[in-house]
Amino acid sequence: MPDASPTKWHLAHTSWFFESLVLVPWVPDYRRFRPGFDYLFNSYYEQLGPRQPRPQRGLLSRPAQAEVLAYRDHVDQAMARLLQATAASGAVGELQRMVTLGIHHEQQHQELMLTDILHAFAANPLRPAYRPLASPAATMALAAGPLAPAAAAPGAAPVRWLRQPGGIRAIGHEGAGFAFDNEGPRHEVLLQPYRIADRLVSCADYLAFIADGGYRRPALWHADGWALARQHDWQAPLYWLPPGAVVLERAEPLEQWHGFGLHGLQPLDPAAPVMHLSWYEAAAFAEWAGARLPTEFEWEAATQDPGLQQVTGSAWQWTRSSYDPYPGFLPFAGPAAEYNGKFMVGQLVLRGGSLATPAGHTRPSYRNFFPPGARWQFAGLRLARDESHE
Ligand SMILES: [Fe+2]
Repeated sequence: MPDASPTKWHLAHTSWFFESLVLVPWVPDYRRFRPGFDYLFNSYYEQLGPRQPRPQRGLLSRPAQAEVLAYRDHVDQAMARLLQATAASGAVGELQRMVTLGIHHEQQHQELMLTDILHAFAANPLRPAYRPLASPAATMALAAGPLAPAAAAPGAAPVRWLRQPGGIRAIGHEGAGFAFDNEGPRHEVLLQPYRIADRLVSCADYLAFIADGGYRRPALWHADGWALARQHDWQAPLYWLPPGAVVLERAEPLEQWHGFGLHGLQPLDPAAPVMHLSWYEAAAFAEWAGARLPTEFEWEAATQDPGLQQVTGSAWQWTRSSYDPYPGFLPFAGPAAEYNGKFMVGQLVLRGGSLATPAGHTRPSYRNFFPPGARWQFAGLRLARDESHE
């Protein structure tokens, strides 16, 4: 899978980030752990040199895991020394900003590790569970950890359409806390009055779309999406299996719809948010439902409404908005300028946060982004409507 990376690579890359963007610039006598790692674990930073192509990261059978963990130790120890020396000297500022960026970067990769593990396990005919539901330890960890199910998912309840007045609204990050460069500058946008669904589209909602021929009706689809759906024979979200599907280790075909997730192959929970949709599928569903996707600005403004449910912790939510710079966008300084800005073409914005997002990582102003055909993210949707269509 050309877009996914092995866990071992994520572990090494997040340490490489601290090494190349913090230790090398700030520690004159820093000794790199091993020649070649800079090539292996650079992701996409042109300013920092050539790199292993992403589609071939899965071929890196060496270094083995033990050496990757030793690399992480090496970097961690050098970081600890740098931070102690810096704290003693009282010099912070730009160094503090880069370390903070490295921590948030690592949090992003924590989610990507789960995303990519799920894809790899789904490609394994034995369909191993990342965290089986049966084990008591897993149940305890679930109650507290980042994979805890969203409390009382209200997916089964009828949608409530929250009326939003629109008008001139301030969008983007404000305040002293951390934000990525793509979340600013804060600026004003003009919104027409609209309505937004209080909850995410559920698996039951999406099954109705499938049953109504959603994947067979080109009128519901954008041209690019229809072509992609036909090319890959999409019939359901990624990781869904229909009744009658035959799977290894089960004597009988499945009797009902199943979904493959971090807990393995499970019967679909009709109340749970649908996930693992491309933007094209989300848009086709919205068309079928007589609605549309919200813009990222409508989404962000609606987070002020206390009636809005499942803002984060369930699924990333595709929006109608292209991933563009805000007016006055100023990239991070140095090599980190490549973090976000250079991807601002051909991608769509997702808002919110998923069950795999580390707690506290996202904000109402947070902008995730993927190409419209990407399906392996924990991505679903929330509907919106124009007020004039009511
Ligand atoms: Fe990265």
